[in-house]
Amino acid sequence: MTETYEDRPRTGGDYEPLGAAQPAGQKENALRLRAGSATVEVAALAPDLFRVGAFFDGRPPEYASEAVAAPEGEPVPVSVHQRGEGLALSTPEAEARISLSPLRMSFADSSGRTFCADDPELGMGVVRGGSPAGDPVALYKRREEGERYFGCGERTSGLEKTGSYQVFWNVDPPAGHTAAFNNLYTSIPFLLSLRGGRAYGLLFDNTRRVEFDLAREDPARIRLGAEGGDIVYYVFCGPTPRRVLERYTWLTGRTPMPPLWALGNQQSRWSYADEEEVRRISRAFRERDIPCDVLYLDIDYMDGYRVFTWDRDRFPDPRGLISELGEEGFRVVAIVDPGVKVDENYPVYTEGRENGFYCLTPGGEEYRNAVWPGVCAFPDFTSARVREWWGGNHRALLDEGVSGVWCDMNEPSLFIPEHSTMPPDVVHPGDGRPRLHGEVHNTYGSLMARAAREGLLGLRPGERPFVITRAGYAGLQRHALQWTGDNSSWWEHLWMAMPQLQNLGLSGVAFCGVDVGGFFGDCDGELLARFTEFGVLQPFCRNHSAKGTVPQEPWAFGEPYESVCRKMIKLRYRLLPYLYTLFEECHRTGAPILRPLLFEFPEDETTYAADDEFMLGGALLAAPITRPGIEHRHVYLPEGTWFHFWSGERFEGPAHILAHAPLGEPALYARANAALPLGPEKSHTGERPAEDSLTLLIHAAEGSGSSALYEDEGDGFAYREGVYARREISCRRAGGRITVRLGEREGSYDPGRREVVLDVRGIRGARRATVNGEERPLRLGEGRVAVALEERPGETVVEIEAT
Ligand code: GLC
Repeated sequence: MTETYEDRPRTGGDYEPLGAAQPAGQKENALRLRAGSATVEVAALAPDLFRVGAFFDGRPPEYASEAVAAPEGEPVPVSVHQRGEGLALSTPEAEARISLSPLRMSFADSSGRTFCADDPELGMGVVRGGSPAGDPVALYKRREEGERYFGCGERTSGLEKTGSYQVFWNVDPPAGHTAAFNNLYTSIPFLLSLRGGRAYGLLFDNTRRVEFDLAREDPARIRLGAEGGDIVYYVFCGPTPRRVLERYTWLTGRTPMPPLWALGNQQSRWSYADEEEVRRISRAFRERDIPCDVLYLDIDYMDGYRVFTWDRDRFPDPRGLISELGEEGFRVVAIVDPGVKVDENYPVYTEGRENGFYCLTPGGEEYRNAVWPGVCAFPDFTSARVREWWGGNHRALLDEGVSGVWCDMNEPSLFIPEHSTMPPDVVHPGDGRPRLHGEVHNTYGSLMARAAREGLLGLRPGERPFVITRAGYAGLQRHALQWTGDNSSWWEHLWMAMPQLQNLGLSGVAFCGVDVGGFFGDCDGELLARFTEFGVLQPFCRNHSAKGTVPQEPWAFGEPYESVCRKMIKLRYRLLPYLYTLFEECHRTGAPILRPLLFEFPEDETTYAADDEFMLGGALLAAPITRPGIEHRHVYLPEGTWFHFWSGERFEGPAHILAHAPLGEPALYARANAALPLGPEKSHTGERPAEDSLTLLIHAAEGSGSSALYEDEGDGFAYREGVYARREISCRRAGGRITVRLGEREGSYDPGRREVVLDVRGIRGARRATVNGEERPLRLGEGRVAVALEERPGETVVEIEAT
């Protein structure tokens, strides 16, 4: 039943490429053509973004999609001109080139270099008679010599996708994800192409089952196909991965600013079964001085798994419990599944039925299948009315004090047969626009998450919603963060987490994480310690495990593992100012938080295969150990100077080195001259420190570098009105002279500190330091110097004479 093992395209039918076309008019930024019964449009939505639509058999153009947040684009000066036998639609940055007989397209940058060209023979077209559900469509592009592919959303295999076959169809796969699995819970039909350092992106926007053949069958072409519908695709011209992601997330929406607490350490279990257990866990964190901000309630908090209810035997007073936990500094997040138990005495169910909110069988009956509660009905999230109703139902959780919502099983995952999803002929009544499930399948998860986010915003308009989702479609980052579902407590899955999160980051989903320690199976001390060394560097850091497995909390395996987990989680808390700055960068520009090396060094092709290491922002490189019993591993350091985070040892890249990484000292490298804003080292036993200090840690080396610091109130939306503080930090070293410049503070937020400590390393000693020309006392340590500066809004220039 499950489709995860398929790795061959579903073929059949006769492929009919588009033939000759005639121009059929120009409307503002779009050019229309006709090719037989197909209407084809090319539009420039931004200077570096084109949209192509091919609508077959007389169907009118239609671009509305769950993927797209900015359907209209922005005003772009375009010109259309004759180009040889064909036409070109030009923007100030790029050009779509169209040959008319037959109709084929390619794109070119302002230097005339072409990319993303149609396959001359096959172009785009339909497969006649290929499927009873409608004619499949396909787009064939030429693969240039040396072109390599990345992205494709959530995957089990490595970072690079060249030569692979990818299926996009959301499923809840069976336990033990391996590289033989193709599709998982989310589908993001987005490709990032790189060739000799030049990037472009392509979003193939079709919410049915999609397949990509990325030069697997033929090394000189790729095939992007869907089981029906029309062809709509977007070309992001780049030329850097950063520019591609910026434009991609402009189109599909940016990751909203999360509340600051969402960056903290989080602890989950299927399930903490009653209030006593939840209290016990919360106390253990504080007693053991292990930081944690969020505890999870999995399905057992509900009354018979009825969503939006509480089991009053296990949780007699959720409000009291949650407020008590709040006093200790914990937030509570609760799970919500889409299946609504069919039960005449359950008002959520009967209300949904009376309003016609559920999906239907082709015969017009309520569609039912089994999930945790037994027989369930399933809300039709394609309807705005249903989403509003669903969102409002979260009141039952928020009223008790719950802070966030965890949307699970939303592929949707069904139990009959096991690991199945809805049949394609199930009907979504929509708001008067019924659609078959097969047409909208991949959006079900995103739309559920959207309902949750909008519900939370409506119920608590002053707070930033916190929503997690397992399933979704392109653009899901607008609604929720994504965790990657049910991994296993395997070393292989610790490795897999790296390419998995890098692929997601390259596909717009920057706020993501895997279950730390692994979900299925029994973890052990060493695996948990290594998993935590990696896990604390994830954008979303949550330890979670399945029923029936051994406990997996950070202290579960005793020493030395508990101390390693504590040290790593405390490191995450020190890194919070840096992480929060990265979230803001992501929110503003779409740059992934956990990013592949190729994002920072696209010119360096060695990085294209480096998927067992990654960058956290632009200033830290991490190379986790993912095998038991070893302390050494290979690390590739790209161009530039790097400093080992623990020892301060210095390396000149590009270099392949052997790192020594005993437990508790994961291989982390700081990039020279890029300041790392760090919070205080402190205890997490419950006492509140008087003031949170801030350190700017800089490893100085010949040359220059930059980073930033972003702060705001940590929740709410005042930052949109300018209540934030952002400053650029640059560092230049020329011989013994180090100049650190804290740019003027942008925004009106006052971080409320008196001082900032500049901690400069990579030197032997220092003779003198001035702050805006005034001499300051030095605190010298081995290989470092610290200088205290007062926190003030204006530009601050620090000059250090190093020895
Ligand atoms: C699914 C989720 C998992 C959760 C379990 C019970 O398997 O992926 O995280 O614990 O359901 O709700």
